[in-house]
Amino acid sequence: LLLSACGGGGGAGGGGALTLGFAQVGAESGWRTANTKSIQESAKAAGIELKFSDAQQKQENQIAAIRSYIQQKVKVIAFSPVVESGWDTVLKEAKTANIPVILTDRAVDSPDKSLYKTFLGSDFVAEGRKAGEWLAEEFGSAAGDVSIVELQGTTGSAPANDRKKGFADVIAPNPKFKVVASQTGEFTRAKGKEVMEAFLKSQPKIDVLYAHNDDMALGAIEAIEAAGKVPGKDIKIVSVDGVRDALQALADGKINHVVECNPLLGPQLMDLVKKVAAGEQVPPRIETTETEFDQASAKAALPQRQY
Ligand code: AHR
Repeated sequence: LLLSACGGGGGAGGGGALTLGFAQVGAESGWRTANTKSIQESAKAAGIELKFSDAQQKQENQIAAIRSYIQQKVKVIAFSPVVESGWDTVLKEAKTANIPVILTDRAVDSPDKSLYKTFLGSDFVAEGRKAGEWLAEEFGSAAGDVSIVELQGTTGSAPANDRKKGFADVIAPNPKFKVVASQTGEFTRAKGKEVMEAFLKSQPKIDVLYAHNDDMALGAIEAIEAAGKVPGKDIKIVSVDGVRDALQALADGKINHVVECNPLLGPQLMDLVKKVAAGEQVPPRIETTETEFDQASAKAALPQRQY
């Protein structure tokens, strides 16, 4: 568990400084790196003292970080829950200590909505649907079965659960769309490559890869090329996020479609932190606006892409 303090204003937790304890998932992807940078920079710009921890994709590390923030009596706690389940106990501890909690990026499945003030992030089901809609359009007139392999995100995480569901809902009505293999690639490039290597060995025919994030798609591209196939042609690829490397791969024709998930949540989060610290009411759910990229729009977006 890595703990550090940064950001503007005041001493450690005292002197009237507004202190935010943020328990990050990890540094598993380009998306996550951009998200962390956005949070650190916006805390500094807002004069909020940020205590930041990296849970290395482990729930127990996040729970330990949240408990340490409670002990340090921070004003607000925010976190991006690595998985959806198992948060009630620690969230109740924060509530008992009168420390408001904000969920960012990923949701929890707790039925007790009083355990957190708001959720700021994406509609992951909608992202999965967009990937499915692209596939249905792209392969709509294909003769015969379309063999799909799926690289899932972290098992039990909201984006893995929801992106799988959204995609499955859209392709379900057409029986020619067959998901022939689906396994977690843990949202990382290395695991995406490893699992795609296994898919290429076990599956006689793969028409399309659906990757729950860009990093896994980028790892899979390496595996596809090493197997002597052409990514984007022999195997079409749709992924989620919209990080620079993926938009470049899309512009180069190695990926066919990217559904955007916006990591730049920092400025909106700092506004919410100030509001909940002041006891103001905030909406229970705030969704970020997102787009999709094809080859032309990726080329157009690349020069300004920040991450
Ligand atoms: O929760 C958002 C997801 O987490 C992003 O799509 C992925 O890249 C990240 O690791």
